[in-house]
Amino acid sequence: MKRMLVIAGNWKMNKDFEEAEKFMDDLLVGLDEYGDLEEELENVQVVICPPAPFIELVGDMTEESEIYVGGQDVSKFKSGAYTGEISAQMYRSMDINYCIAGHSERRKYHNETNADIHEKMLRLKESFIAPIICVGETEEEREEGKTFDVIEKQLSEILFDIDEKNDMLLLAYEPVWAIGTGKTASPGQAQEVHAFIRNWVKENISETFAEEIHILYGGSVKPTNAEELLMKEDIDGALIGGASLDAKQFTEIIVTAAKLSKRKSNG
Ligand code: PGA
Repeated sequence: MKRMLVIAGNWKMNKDFEEAEKFMDDLLVGLDEYGDLEEELENVQVVICPPAPFIELVGDMTEESEIYVGGQDVSKFKSGAYTGEISAQMYRSMDINYCIAGHSERRKYHNETNADIHEKMLRLKESFIAPIICVGETEEEREEGKTFDVIEKQLSEILFDIDEKNDMLLLAYEPVWAIGTGKTASPGQAQEVHAFIRNWVKENISETFAEEIHILYGGSVKPTNAEELLMKEDIDGALIGGASLDAKQFTEIIVTAAKLSKRKSNG
């Protein structure tokens, strides 16, 4: 089974309009310089999740390219008096194909629970948007040897009613201790958890679903460590914060994925 690599950039609450425009210009020009990798680049799904006010800009600028635009979060409600929230239907009307849900920063600063994330996933599904659901343990949980318990709880409380025929779902393993800290999980540590997640999907959803689902790694992915992480069997891409703010670094990671994509699909 061939899984494409997915490289998703999460800008979080960074950049102003001009900076967003400049980034997109630099990214498109940067990728154009790799014309000889055209075929390989087609094997990589690039997604950019800008802050909501810049979705239209990024959408317009990527119209002629294969780059997709994603949301960083979505409301668990369908519509109504929820000031500041963004609905899945709004994203749909802007042709958004992906949306992150359950990022650890949302869990930490906005007290999101697994039940909230489950609701968000349903709203995205109703609007035919692929959710990128984040799971991951804190440093303390890892030190106490609770990594697999924490992840199993997150998976079972969020994905308990997945319908394998209809769901376009991606997962992201993001160890909280590796996000924005410069501490990356080693490729071995990441692969171990990715394999655990895939096995959970196999046992609780189905074997086919487990083979097809993309599990991204997130947490201090940089041009210098992308290759060793993306080479791993169960790592199907990356969710990138810091390095996605710099067009040169983000381009380098996409190119690394493109070069690896052939090797991975053959192997
Ligand atoms: P980082 O963020 O790459 O800056 O560690 C990753 C994420 O939060 O998705």
